[in-house]
Amino acid sequence: MSLIKLLRKQNRKLLFTTPSHAQKFFIFNKFRQFYKYDISETDTHNPQAALSEAQNRAAKIYKTNYTYFLTNGSTSGIIASVLACTKKGDKVLIWRHAHPCHHNAVVLAGCEPVYYDLPSVKDWGIPDKTTPELINIKGVKAVIVTSPSYEGIVSDIKSLKQICEKNGAYLIVDEAHGALYPFSDKLPQSAVNIADFTVQSLHKTAGGLNPTALLHVNCNINPEKALSMINTTSPSYPLLASIEANINYLNTSKGRKKIDGLITSIESMKASIKNVDFGGDDITKILIRKEGFTGYQLSEKLFDEFGIEDEKTNEISTMLLCGIGTSSMKLERLKKALLKL
Ligand SMILES: Cc1ncc(COP(=O)(O)O)c(C=O)c1O
Repeated sequence: MSLIKLLRKQNRKLLFTTPSHAQKFFIFNKFRQFYKYDISETDTHNPQAALSEAQNRAAKIYKTNYTYFLTNGSTSGIIASVLACTKKGDKVLIWRHAHPCHHNAVVLAGCEPVYYDLPSVKDWGIPDKTTPELINIKGVKAVIVTSPSYEGIVSDIKSLKQICEKNGAYLIVDEAHGALYPFSDKLPQSAVNIADFTVQSLHKTAGGLNPTALLHVNCNINPEKALSMINTTSPSYPLLASIEANINYLNTSKGRKKIDGLITSIESMKASIKNVDFGGDDITKILIRKEGFTGYQLSEKLFDEFGIEDEKTNEISTMLLCGIGTSSMKLERLKKALLKL
């Protein structure tokens, strides 16, 4: 049974259970629909079984051993991965300037962090990719790599996996910004079928609600116990159902066409702009720089004169994030602004 269908079912039983709003008492009236679908594990329709089936179907779509739906972001996926594949006292190799959840995961697991540094792409002011040499360290139980980076720099996950295998370490890939990758050949290769654990934030680029995300497992470690240690026992079924709908959409020809349409629109926008430079490995992250401007000046000008807010800026460049919901009208406005710079 699909989670989405299950939530639509009317419950005719007299439930003396949580949640106490009983799908009928709307304290925040604007969220009526949300309350209506907000059921508990105790619901007689057995939502746990439907969740488990939905996750199994997702694993088939992604061709993974397991895929778990997360309602506390990629953050919880990283923590669960580290908890699942390490023991107290193990060493875990992480990038010194990674998202804070990497360090927090290592600390929560009682492990010892070992750091690696990334060189920078000097003429863009951003961190470069992770290479096998940078993580070729013996005696670590797991390695966490961020790919793509915030700015769309993508590492060669296959070669990273090979080096991890040689050193007997699990590879955890933070693909928080790459949730669209499995659904288009025009995007970089996803880590979901290569790394031992891959996390993706659906809410960042794939149209998901905050903070929906996925944890994909490619090895034979089942992270269920680790997940149960950090997750609530009262998950949000509306959010979980939205994850099921999200994956189903991305996996339809309509969803794939939408992603390809986004890529084509960005490609044509880029082709018509000659007065700024474009960088990065992922076309959906529009990384720009302009001679005579620092990244901060460029960002300020875009905001002050054109009302355009970027996602991330550094001394040299600025990045405008696109995702499945970025309309061609929005890109057209960006194009006009960039041409006027
Ligand atoms: C690279 C990276 N990893 C992990 C996270 C955490 O993701 P979430 O917000 O889905 O927990 C973020 C969030 O900004 C991020 O940028």
